[in-house]
Amino acid sequence: MIADRKDDHVRFAAEQQRHLGGYNQFDDVSFVHHALAGIDRSDVSLATRFGGIEWQVPLYINAMTGGSAKTGAVNRDLAIAARETGVPIATGSMSAYFADESVAGTFSVMRRENPDGFIMANVNANASVEKARRAIGLLRADALQIHLNSIQETVMPEGDRSFSSWGPQVEKIAAGVDVPVIVKEVGFGLSRETVLRLQEMGVRAADVAGRGGTNFARIENDRRDHADYSYLNGWGQSAPACLLDAQGAGIPVLASGGVRNPLDVARGLALGAAAAGVSGQFLKTVLDGGVPALISQISAWLDQLEALMTALGAPTPADLTRCDVLIHGDLRAFCADRGIE
Ligand code: FNR
Repeated sequence: MIADRKDDHVRFAAEQQRHLGGYNQFDDVSFVHHALAGIDRSDVSLATRFGGIEWQVPLYINAMTGGSAKTGAVNRDLAIAARETGVPIATGSMSAYFADESVAGTFSVMRRENPDGFIMANVNANASVEKARRAIGLLRADALQIHLNSIQETVMPEGDRSFSSWGPQVEKIAAGVDVPVIVKEVGFGLSRETVLRLQEMGVRAADVAGRGGTNFARIENDRRDHADYSYLNGWGQSAPACLLDAQGAGIPVLASGGVRNPLDVARGLALGAAAAGVSGQFLKTVLDGGVPALISQISAWLDQLEALMTALGAPTPADLTRCDVLIHGDLRAFCADRGIE
């Protein structure tokens, strides 16, 4: 049952990538062009540091899958691409492993293929501290992601209907594991209010995982016989909206949800993110073109991000926050409504 769901998610998410419209709210963010701002490529470093974590690059493969034979093979391919390009990577939710230990290999394959890489385990906010520790142990994980996905659960016929324990449980997990905890959404975004609560709970970073890319309301609607919740297909806030909303919240933020190209990565970093995460688009690449296609895509993105930082005059990812950006369209209206200066 869980294995079928994991296969469905991969299939529907890859299909969705083929039909994504061109625009998303990253397009409402533009850099002001300063023709004399450029620096030398040799002075640019992609290394990033946040919440006690250090990465060589500000780009990571975000949580997706595991729990079935097919998705184990996807995890193997993603892990090889991460190893070859040096990007951090997360597994998908490890609930399937807690339900049936025989699928452990569909997750641990990531560590086997990528012995020295930065790997994040992933659990839901109902997981006990003991389960969170098991997930970390199976992968020898460097960090733990906890996902918050109340809208996905709501639309999922077999989904959770009780959410009140999530906050206290996140706090318990953050206090009870010995790796940094990153809390993420799954494509509906994290509001300022949520990010502030996470900061109080001892969470190391908040991954906004906003609207505009993979859409789990749509995926779960497509899995239902009757798309009863199709009116939720536009729910949530985009990643740029979340990043602007969370400014000054006192906790590192990560940009994900709808990141389509190296410019979106630079836009996310300019809005304050320490790194940008990609799921759906990298999934489509690896399913269509295999490991070589994903390695070449990630390598090109890193090369082009460095090139953009050179032209923008930003020697480090954090320096991108000093670049002048303009906010327009719906994103500007969001800022006005939320009182964001
Ligand atoms: C996901 N995502 C996800 N997130 C999570 O924390 N645990 C999970 O198990 C999954 N599962 C999953 C499966 C598939 C097939 C996809 C494509 C995505 C959500 C993911 O990490 C991310 O937050 C969203 O996909 C938004 O980013 P993109 O896809 O727009 O880059």
